[in-house]
Amino acid sequence: MSTPHLDAAPGQIAPTVLLPGDPLRARHIAREFLSDATEANTRRNMLGYTGTYRGQRISVLGSGMGIPSCAIYATELVRFHGVRRIVRVGTCGGVGDVALGDILLAQSASTDSRFNRLQFGGHDLAACADFELLRAAADAATALGIPARVAAIFSTDCFYDGDPHLMERLIRHRIVGVEMESAGLYGLAMREGLRALSVLAVSDHLQRDEHMAPEQREQGLSAMVSLVLEALAA
Ligand code: HPA
Repeated sequence: MSTPHLDAAPGQIAPTVLLPGDPLRARHIAREFLSDATEANTRRNMLGYTGTYRGQRISVLGSGMGIPSCAIYATELVRFHGVRRIVRVGTCGGVGDVALGDILLAQSASTDSRFNRLQFGGHDLAACADFELLRAAADAATALGIPARVAAIFSTDCFYDGDPHLMERLIRHRIVGVEMESAGLYGLAMREGLRALSVLAVSDHLQRDEHMAPEQREQGLSAMVSLVLEALAA
C-alpha cells in the first residue's frame, strides 16, 4: 500500500522496524546487519530496507528529525503496513552523570512538545516504553556484556534556543538524555497498541562540550544496533 510518505508495496515492510533518524544510517544498518536486504522505501529519500536477522524479517527506515516527522512514519507503518514493533535507534545529548558512548534504554520520555497533549485533551501523558521490549533490550545488553542503562529521557522540539533553564530542570528530575522523537513515538504507540522502545547512544555531553568523534559514533552505533537486533531476535 502506497501512503503519502511511503512507497512500499503491501507486505514489503516487516512487522518489526528499526527507526534511526538518519536515512543514511538506515542504509548502513541494512547493509551491515541484515541479510538479503532489499529497498522498501525511497519516497522523499527517507530510505527504508527489509532483510532478515537470525531468520526473522526486519525492516529499517529513517524517521527524520523531530516528533512530527517520526510520528508520520510511525503512524503509516502501523496503520497501513501492519507494523507491531518499532525500536528507535538514535543518538542523544547527555546530561549529568553519563559519558559519551553510553547506551540509554529510554524507559520514559518527558517533553516540551504538545504532540501528546493534542491527543489527550490537554492532559499530561506518561509517555513510556513497552516493557517487553525494554526488558528484552536490558537482558540482551547483559548477555552481550554491553553496558546499557535504563533511563529517563527528554524529547525537545527545540534543538536551538529552547528553555534556558532546561539543564537544571533535567538534572533535578534525574533525566540524563535529550533527543527529539521518543515522547511522540511512545505516545502514539500507546494509542495504536504498538510496542515501542528508544535506544540511544550519548553522542554529545550537553554540559561538558564533549562530542563523539565520527569513528567513535560509528562504533557506538554498532554496539547499539547489535544489542537491539539481539533483543528482537530473543
Ligand atoms: N539535542 C536534541 N537532540 C539531540 C541532541 C541534542 O543535544 N543530541 C542528539 N540528538
